Amino acid sequence: MSISFDGRVAIVTGAGAGLGRSHAMLLASRGAKVVVNDLGGAVDGTSGSAAPADKVVDEIKAAGGEAVANYDSVSDPAGAANIVKTAVDAFGKVDILVNNAGILRDRSFTKMDAETWNAVVAVHLNGTAYVTMAAWPVMRENGYGRIVLTASNSGLYGNFGQANYGAAKAGMVGLMNVLKQEGRKYNILVNTLAPMATTRMTEELMPPEAVKLLQPELVSPGVAYLCSETNEESGIVLSAGGGYFARIQVMGSEGVFMEPGTEVTPEMVADQFAKICDMSNAQNFDSSTAELQYLFSKQIKGGVGHSHFS
Ligand code: NAI
Repeated sequence: MSISFDGRVAIVTGAGAGLGRSHAMLLASRGAKVVVNDLGGAVDGTSGSAAPADKVVDEIKAAGGEAVANYDSVSDPAGAANIVKTAVDAFGKVDILVNNAGILRDRSFTKMDAETWNAVVAVHLNGTAYVTMAAWPVMRENGYGRIVLTASNSGLYGNFGQANYGAAKAGMVGLMNVLKQEGRKYNILVNTLAPMATTRMTEELMPPEAVKLLQPELVSPGVAYLCSETNEESGIVLSAGGGYFARIQVMGSEGVFMEPGTEVTPEMVADQFAKICDMSNAQNFDSSTAELQYLFSKQIKGGVGHSHFS
């Protein structure tokens, strides 16, 4: 089996550097026509330049691929729409969207203010939503879409000083969980990457051996697979870095069921708390409705008929 993107059109946001550049180069090397989006700002999102996106476009073309640049900010809804328009105008459609653009404004929560919070949420969570919203109808119309969102282990597991970033990044999983359901009937598959790589965003935080190991090129094959026709999964979180690939999943414990109809006290929860938290028989639910059905199957004799819960 070989993975090719011949005839496919891809958008990679924040592709002027780091991971996005590596994803764009790999997709292009396998035949995708690529929109290289990047506003060319600093790590904190300030300033801007056409140079990074242009340089990656030149690199792709020099290697025999096809690409066009776009310099819009993902966090501006009109800019996000224009990123998708760039793809449609240049190449006629959008098959693949890799939401990768990102910034950092780290500070401990004691020092967090609304502006610092909003700037980070605006790029990661809102920006991802805006570009995806613009691409969605195009993909729906074509009955084909592969979307990758970029989360971070900082949000999935936690990292000191990154409340804004971690919250925005964990938000990707919520967005994915809903979109995997809404996209299924249009063959739009939505998955999430949790990368670990040495880029300008992280290199100062890493020891030299780690810098050497964590090349962005070791992450991009995971993205390429998720974006390929070969992949049929939607709703996967793929942790990737330094040659390591692993799935991360939200799991619920088997749980404790108090007798229906009886008074439930905080003391009863306290008594059972160790068991409530016991993950030895943990399970994943494909939807929130599936978890409710599990609850009903245990607590309501004979279960319940068809219902819709939101
Ligand atoms: P990077 O700073 O090298 O690349 C991010 C790119 O996004 C930059 O070229 C920047 O100009 C662009 N960008 C920023 N704001 C933008 C906007 N509003 N519109 C368009 N482009 C914008 O950083 P890196 O490490 O390559 O990060 C890529 C993604 O991976 C980010 O979402 C980041 O949060 C995520 N990530 C990276 C990790 C790592 O280990 N490097 C770890 C976990 C997540």
